[in-house]
Amino acid sequence: MNVVILAAGMGKRMQSSLPKVLHQLAGKPLLAHVIATARSLQAESICVIYGHGGEQVPTAVAAGDIRFALQEPQLGTGHAVAQALPVLNDSVPTLVLYGDVPLTTTASLQRLVAAAGPDQLAILTAEMADPSGLGRIVRADGRIVRIVEQKDANPAERAITEINTGIMLVPTARLRQWLATLSNDNAQGEYYLTDIVARAVADGVAVVSAQPDALWETLGVNSKVQLAELERIHQANLARQLLEQGVTLYDPARIDIRGSLSCGRDVSIDVGCVFVGEVILEDGVCIGPHCVIKNATIGAGSSIRAMCHIEEAEVGAQAQIGPYARLRPGTTLAEDVHIGNFVEIKNSQIAAHSKANHLAYVGDATIGSRVNIGAGAITCNYDGANKFRTVIEDDAFIGSDTQLVAPVTVGKGATLGAGTTLTKDAPAGKLTVSRARQITVENWQRPVKIKK
Ligand code: UD1
Ligand code: CA
Repeated sequence: MNVVILAAGMGKRMQSSLPKVLHQLAGKPLLAHVIATARSLQAESICVIYGHGGEQVPTAVAAGDIRFALQEPQLGTGHAVAQALPVLNDSVPTLVLYGDVPLTTTASLQRLVAAAGPDQLAILTAEMADPSGLGRIVRADGRIVRIVEQKDANPAERAITEINTGIMLVPTARLRQWLATLSNDNAQGEYYLTDIVARAVADGVAVVSAQPDALWETLGVNSKVQLAELERIHQANLARQLLEQGVTLYDPARIDIRGSLSCGRDVSIDVGCVFVGEVILEDGVCIGPHCVIKNATIGAGSSIRAMCHIEEAEVGAQAQIGPYARLRPGTTLAEDVHIGNFVEIKNSQIAAHSKANHLAYVGDATIGSRVNIGAGAITCNYDGANKFRTVIEDDAFIGSDTQLVAPVTVGKGATLGAGTTLTKDAPAGKLTVSRARQITVENWQRPVKIKK
């Protein structure tokens, strides 16, 4: 099929300078959700109709398989679809989607395609308790004869509760003919796509309908209120999928997934966590409350305690991270690594069984196995102009409050005394310490207050 996505409208009620279809749901633009759905249908071509907001829309979602057609000015949904006609293939039907209706499922659209068969017009319709504002499906003897817009409807038509979701599948050559006959002689002075329904009936083309599995699939976003409502519906759906897969969610209403989260068996996630981009939690992972995890893999059996921030990092198996740890891009931790509170790791590899349990900064470092990094240890990786690496070999012990001024290497099994400022390599197996020797001053007395 051809897919045409209508995305030229203004979105005035969003009260924003960003075009409506670029507002984000689950971390990506509304329009990107609709494009993903179109792709899932193996569409032969996808054409986005844009207008309001200008080139921002094509720029934001540009991809090799997407074409764009400018609709300027915006004269209605029929006029919008007409802008795509030059790129439509007549030998396959055309599916019309809305760029501001992000949650329609592939399954419901496949049902619409099945209902249409090879040459009928199919409309996705729904029953709504409160249909106000929407186009009504007018039937005679059970058959669809036309769609009437709220503003053009008489009281009897307004009482109809079956509505046009806006999504329809149309035989393309017919679409071309019917769009050419539209007029804007109606209450809104627009060229209505919905008028092609009466044209189809007049031409003897059967008009059929299909219904979505759920009403939320057809909901559009016109305001921040509706955007927030759809976000919650979507997040609830994602949480339910995780629960059904066997993930333990302490509260399914308090998790946010903005991308894809894949979980192994016996994973548990406490409240208030945000997962961004592609996150993989392997078997048995426990995520404590209020963690933010972005584009990361957490190895089997690892525990991420409360309040951690992890981004572009790989955590090995059986690790213990946090509470209050920060793993920045380029962090790779092997198995059984412990990273404790107020420790920041950036662009560093840490081998198995090593620990940095309190208050440390490890940046641009390569750290061996069974290394212990004491509280307050810092890699001085940046001289204000360039960055340098620190290498700490296996079994080294880095005393508390040390500064490792890179580039510098700590040899295998070396010990750095507390407070050392290391500016030259520390040899393997030895104690290196740079602090001043401790002295005690004999016969020293505390000053006493002078009496006046
Ligand atoms: C439309 C339908 C109505 C249906 C409702 C569902 C028509 C005439 N009416 O009404 O039957 O119940 O959707 O929400 O089709 N757009 C453009 N260019 C335009 C006009 C609109 O790209 O010139 C886009 C909008 O950005 C939006 C979509 O088309 O994504 C629908 O437009 P909107 O103005 O919301 O249509 P409604 O009048 O609500
Ligand atoms: Ca609308």
